[in-house]
Amino acid sequence: MTHPHCYGGSTVPNEPVAVTCKVCGGHVHEFLDLGRQPLSDAFREPESVAPEFFFRLAVGRCESCTMVQLTESVPREKMFHEDYPYHSSGSAVMRAHFATVARRFLDTELAVPDPFIVEMGCNDGVMLATINQAGVRHLGFEPSNGVAEAARAQGIRVRTAFFEEETAARVRAQEGPAQVIYAANTMCHIPYPESIFRGVDALLAPDGVFVFEDPYLGDLVAKTSFDQIYDEHFFLFSGHSVRAMAEHYGFQLVDVDRLAVHGGEVRYTLARAGARVPSAAVAGLLAEEDASGLSDLTTLRRFGDSVLRVRDDLVALLRRLRAEGSLVVAYGATAKSATVTNFCGIGPELVSYVCDSTPAKQHRITPGKHIPVRPPTAFRDPYPDYALLFAWNHADEIMAKEEEFRRRGGQWISYVPDVRVL
Ligand code: SAM
Ligand code: TMP
Ligand code: ZN
Repeated sequence: MTHPHCYGGSTVPNEPVAVTCKVCGGHVHEFLDLGRQPLSDAFREPESVAPEFFFRLAVGRCESCTMVQLTESVPREKMFHEDYPYHSSGSAVMRAHFATVARRFLDTELAVPDPFIVEMGCNDGVMLATINQAGVRHLGFEPSNGVAEAARAQGIRVRTAFFEEETAARVRAQEGPAQVIYAANTMCHIPYPESIFRGVDALLAPDGVFVFEDPYLGDLVAKTSFDQIYDEHFFLFSGHSVRAMAEHYGFQLVDVDRLAVHGGEVRYTLARAGARVPSAAVAGLLAEEDASGLSDLTTLRRFGDSVLRVRDDLVALLRRLRAEGSLVVAYGATAKSATVTNFCGIGPELVSYVCDSTPAKQHRITPGKHIPVRPPTAFRDPYPDYALLFAWNHADEIMAKEEEFRRRGGQWISYVPDVRVL
């Protein structure tokens, strides 16, 4: 059955639609419907009257390969374009994280004569900056030209293009094979893995590695962090589903690392089938997932029930605080928060404004619910009574920066893993 994309005020059907897996073609069983949602990074001019794009955000699990995925994908050009507002370098913790990733590659896979590394979704160059400083040959693929320009301004080589079969093959022909193809928080954004793997196959050196890190389904379920589900996060990976995807395309999962960043991620290392011996960590992660029943529909349905509980608790708390006359604002106009505000029905009547350090988001309004976005200076003038932490994955960094808020009696509100005033 085809499913219409919806614009403006039109409604969307709530019936699950028959969907096939973007990896293996198996049947995708829907387990959670998060309703009508806008583009998570489409921050609007307050005076804009242009119709807003909406789609139905629902998530399901493939009955064959276990891949958890959205049941509807948004055209990629609607999400990734000149004005894509997310700048990876906005967090000091993430800058340090990616410098470590780069140094690790320099010390291992790239410690060969004339090494070459390709990154998909290099954004403003947060990882490639260290590679470039080391004088190592590199190329970033970044379709969002605004952030690509920020990388180029530092001397990083970036192609404004989507990584896919054709673009990757062209690079192979022009520049030779890459020892490393890397992607952070990008593979899960891509609902066309077949083209990606063909591109990787064309461009990767025979003994090269394809490494990607993305939010981990295990953390999502453990923390009820349903806000990791939005238009850009098409796939929610697990060790099992990534192993199945790798094998489907002639690759092998040879290593995994649990990462604390962005609320819990896994870094997956893939090599051509038979090229490397898988580490013990792979078997360890798979065994852990088997023991917890991570990929079982009952587990995923239970997760769905927890999501409804968090929604109800959060809305009840915000209504009570408002009724008491408290000033409640939010911190971090994250893409994730689009799911929270639109699914829970939280607008400016409950949260007066959101403070965010990203200039491209400031003085705009949030997608769907139209909450004003203000710079962090607005957070201090006046300090609110409560601050809802939308950027909960950057909690330590933000709370340290805004210590004075607490000293003056302000309180943070978190909804991960459950709703609480901190
Ligand atoms: N790697 C950075 C990080 O981890 O902070 C940026 C992540 S950002 C959430 C995802 C990026 O992937 C965006 O900058 C987007 O433009 C880019 N992107 C989306 N599809 C892509 C594709 N097919 N090839 C290369 N980049 C892509
Ligand atoms: P992310 O969770 O997708 O990385 O988005 C984090 C958002 O929070 C991004 O819009 C930048 C914003 N932010 C701040 O406003 N202040 C900060 O200190 C940090 C780390 C992020
Ligand atoms: Zn599948």
